[in-house]
Amino acid sequence: MKKEPLKIAFSSQKGGVGKSSVTTLIAGMLHYQKGYQVVVFDCDYPQLSIVRQRERELKAIMQNDYYKKMAHQQFSELNKKAYPIIPCKAETVMQEADKFLSESPIQYDVAFFDLPGTVNSSGILQTLFKMNAIFSPITADRVVMESTLSFLQILNKLFHKHNKKNCHYLFWNMVDGREKSKLYDIYEKVIQQLGLYLMKSYFSDAKRFRKELSDKGNALVFRSTLFPPHSRLIKASRLEEFINEFLQLIQL
Ligand SMILES: Nc1ncnc2c1ncn2[C@@H]1O[C@H](COP(=O)(O)OP(=O)(O)OP(=O)(O)O)[C@@H](O)[C@H]1O
Ligand SMILES: [Mg+2]
Repeated sequence: MKKEPLKIAFSSQKGGVGKSSVTTLIAGMLHYQKGYQVVVFDCDYPQLSIVRQRERELKAIMQNDYYKKMAHQQFSELNKKAYPIIPCKAETVMQEADKFLSESPIQYDVAFFDLPGTVNSSGILQTLFKMNAIFSPITADRVVMESTLSFLQILNKLFHKHNKKNCHYLFWNMVDGREKSKLYDIYEKVIQQLGLYLMKSYFSDAKRFRKELSDKGNALVFRSTLFPPHSRLIKASRLEEFINEFLQLIQL
């Protein structure tokens, strides 16, 4: 009998806070660097931003000898393929995921779900209910905070009602400057008062999050579905800290 992978969603009601970028960063680290088998279900239909990113990256690799060589080397060293990215509709993703996982010869350790922002439909709530952990990026912006906190309170009540363990974690993304300002302290108090869990690790606002592999350059890789982030950029973004806290929370 195959073991089920841990199901993890990066979810928030507010768009553009970093769900897809952080999903690819964590998935890349786990799959290409930490020896786990990862699969990503991209349910943000029809945008399918992770599916599209993989398509752009494959094209960039075809047109760039530097990346081509890097890909060959990586895949012969690792002896495993790039992680699959499965496009799904949010309403039917659990059936599609179960089918994929039961038919695959690979035993996956982690399945990531990139869900759409609109959590109004009951389909998405049901999907969130099946997750082993839900991570919500937040930014120090009033609209983001209000919508995320109210969404998580609804979700928590629902989980509580069904006797399901609380497994929601918030983390700061796009933090301005090298250190967090006073504004964050104020928000953190509110988060604590609501009984929500905030991760210690966070991501600063940095240009590297916006850059993908390009068919021209040979810039250091950061945000990619085919390679792990470059060690120098892992250090600069304190990604290792984030991953360690993440792994501890999901108990992998
Ligand atoms: N820490 C960061 N620093 C700078 N830019 C970032 C950071 N995190 C994400 N971004 C950028 O912000 C934009 C939105 O990020 P992303 O697409 O990951 O968010 P999302 O929550 O998945 O959005 P959507 O709701 O559209 O799916 C992207 O251009 C991304 O590159
Ligand atoms: Mg997205």
